[in-house]
Amino acid sequence: MPDILSPETLNYLNSLPREENPLLKEMEEYARENYIPILDKNSATLLEILVATSKAKTVLEIGTAIGYSTIRIASVLPDEGKVYTIEKSTDMIPLAEQNFETSGFSKKIVLLKGDAIRKLLNLNVSFDLIFLDADKQDYMRLLEFSLPLLKKGGLYITDNLLWQGYTSSLEEPPAKYARSTVQIREFNNIFFNLKSLRTSLIPIGDGLGIGIKLTEIGEDNMSGLQFCYKNFNAITAGRLEEAKDIYSLLELALESNLEKDFVSLCFDAKYMIGLGSSIAKAEENPEITGYGTMRDDLNKTILKFLQCLKEILSEADEDIQLYFINKYLQQNDESDEMEDLLRLVNDFAEFKIILNDIKRA
Ligand SMILES: C[S@@+](CC[C@H](N)C(=O)[O-])C[C@H]1O[C@@H](n2cnc3c(N)ncnc32)[C@H](O)[C@@H]1O
Repeated sequence: MPDILSPETLNYLNSLPREENPLLKEMEEYARENYIPILDKNSATLLEILVATSKAKTVLEIGTAIGYSTIRIASVLPDEGKVYTIEKSTDMIPLAEQNFETSGFSKKIVLLKGDAIRKLLNLNVSFDLIFLDADKQDYMRLLEFSLPLLKKGGLYITDNLLWQGYTSSLEEPPAKYARSTVQIREFNNIFFNLKSLRTSLIPIGDGLGIGIKLTEIGEDNMSGLQFCYKNFNAITAGRLEEAKDIYSLLELALESNLEKDFVSLCFDAKYMIGLGSSIAKAEENPEITGYGTMRDDLNKTILKFLQCLKEILSEADEDIQLYFINKYLQQNDESDEMEDLLRLVNDFAEFKIILNDIKRA
């Protein structure tokens, strides 16, 4: 395995005398014995120093595990400070909760249980410092969804950017690390190139990235769909007939990384409506013939639209799937479902106009 620090430097760092908190020591041992990846203790001390010197009051952590870094953050927050920490693993959550209780810092900790993307989409809190330490394949999207919540002058800290030395190594990583190494390299290319952050990489632990936010909240390059989700009521006010359902589909698409499918639904809906009205005009005019290709095109687009809808729904809970299937997808020409589906298509076409307006603005 390639080194981040030379073995001598690492040994020296780890041998420096320091006062050890018994709970943290116990947690470090538990993590080692149970192969739970927690923050390296030298990185954790630096994180504490950054939280304290930046005078952060509200911190967001993505990836709690057993709560080791959460407790270290909470320990240096002022009395009125809060660290919001997000964890999706039902194995980790009870362990973290127990450790928070034992630490005596539970009043400063808000544990958000579930997938971070969903939590971030619905979090209306602004933060002084964000610490990202979750699954590597999610890093890019978690950065995209969390950065808009960081205040100007706030710190964005993220672990594992040197990924056990594989990120910078010229040798091929072992198969087990091949994909994650590519993902971290791609992440670093984005993280170090963001206009909204001035960023550095500190080669301790597993490589700690630190960026200071240069832009105000609201000036971030949020994706059009994320913006629509956060401002849904304001931007759609009165323009959609099935607003609640469009909102659910947008939420599912954002959570499941299916934004392209959502945008496709908007494009296809607009195209279908255009084709439909051209065919209707042609049918009224006996002089126009040969509009069969338009019909073929319409049929193909309808199939594509339904396919995208099913793709997004495949990520939904069973009750949501059933609701959409019953309302929109069990059609026969006589039934109400056809009218429901037409309304949904009209709404997606309207959403395409909304997206165009946002892009222009
Ligand atoms: C490296 S561990 C966190 C270690 C912790 N920060 C510490 O140093 O004590 C990563 C944790 O993030 C959680 N996680 C990964 N991706 C997540 C996501 N998308 N949403 C919520 N939790 C996630 C994993 O379940 C895992 O427990």
